[in-house]
Amino acid sequence: MTQDELKQAVAQAAADYVAEKAPAGAIIGVGTGSTANFFIDALAPLKDRYRGAVASSEATRKRLEGHGIPVLDLNEVEHIPVYVDGADEVDAGLNMIKGGGGALTREKIVAAVADIFVCIADGSKLVDTMGKFPLPVEVIPMARAHVARQLAKLGGKPVLREDFVTDNGNLILDVHGLAITDPKGLEAQINQIVGVVTNGLFAVRPANLLLLGTADGVRRIG
Ligand code: 5RP
Repeated sequence: MTQDELKQAVAQAAADYVAEKAPAGAIIGVGTGSTANFFIDALAPLKDRYRGAVASSEATRKRLEGHGIPVLDLNEVEHIPVYVDGADEVDAGLNMIKGGGGALTREKIVAAVADIFVCIADGSKLVDTMGKFPLPVEVIPMARAHVARQLAKLGGKPVLREDFVTDNGNLILDVHGLAITDPKGLEAQINQIVGVVTNGLFAVRPANLLLLGTADGVRRIG
């Protein structure tokens, strides 16, 4: 199977899971990226069952609306039973690195509201120790150099993502060379740096369920 076929398989499994777990009229949280895009496509045929979705990025909002799925402002929503999103890396504890698409802040906000976080990923994303994928950190533009110096003190090599501005008008530093043995601790530590908006570690609030695409089918972990 190709990587896209694996992504499609987990996206369909997630749409089936949502149909099982989310009551009719529910609002679904939707992530960002190529795997999340397949999920949006799988959700579309069931759209009349749901009231709508909350989007974790402008790109996701556009794709949802393209399918005729109403997109709600998170401030108008009290309850999201399920949030479905991809990951750049995920470990056996269902901690993740996210933000390869730069949507980490809105993803973390929607995930914080959701009861259940379902991570959908092809098998290549499952790792023993996270950090091979550079950790994205969203920063306020005037704090870029300060935050970069502090991240270097933690042992990483921060690289400014070229020609990229987040949906929130900020910059991304991609931090190379971290071996993340304490994801929760590092997530908290990076959040303490003044000027950091969010970092791409999702460990304080990990996924509840991982749907992993493999050649043998979709594995459920968690
Ligand atoms: C976007 C993300 C994505 O979930 C992550 O980058 C995975 O993307 P893809 O499904 O395209 O591999 O965090 O900010």
